[in-house]
Amino acid sequence: MLDVGGGSARVGEFMLEAGASRYVDVDLSDTMLDLARQRLTRFEDKVELVQGDFLSAPLDGLFDIVLALGYFDYIQDAPAHVRRISELCQGTAVASFPRWTWTKGPIRKVRYEVINRCPIFDYTEPQLRELFSDFDRVGVKSGRSGFLVRADR
Ligand SMILES: C[S@@+](CC[C@H](N)C(=O)[O-])C[C@H]1O[C@@H](n2cnc3c(N)ncnc32)[C@H](O)[C@@H]1O
Repeated sequence: MLDVGGGSARVGEFMLEAGASRYVDVDLSDTMLDLARQRLTRFEDKVELVQGDFLSAPLDGLFDIVLALGYFDYIQDAPAHVRRISELCQGTAVASFPRWTWTKGPIRKVRYEVINRCPIFDYTEPQLRELFSDFDRVGVKSGRSGFLVRADR
């Protein structure tokens, strides 16, 4: 499986414990990948940590499962990233996306965009269905502050 922006591999650890035979974490941050390395030592050669931008990082083969959790909150060009997920996925992709809510939205805007100068993005269900239209089946679940997309080949 491939974990896009998998960071410190907190989800990867569960997936490996559940029996994943190969776990690839691609992430921009060396610091996060160092944490992933420490966390996943016991899984030895089942683990591959790739430092780089997901759009250009060298990734071999096709993956049965591609995860992108907490990733799209800060991604400017979501269509390009979903396209690459689609190219690499031969089974199921699961990705989370933020959604505007009047309870959390204004606080997120101030915290990230005004104070930290980090643009954030919000999505709607029709946008997500369009983004993943390349897949055969797409399910979108709406949670308290975001969406979870499951797309299957
Ligand atoms: C909010 S963290 C989520 C980490 C992990 N998926 C989780 O749920 O714990 C987002 C991660 O995406 C990584 N990231 C952001 N843009 C990226 C890109 N273009 N290519 C690869 N990783 C990226 C960041 O370095 C960060 O570790």
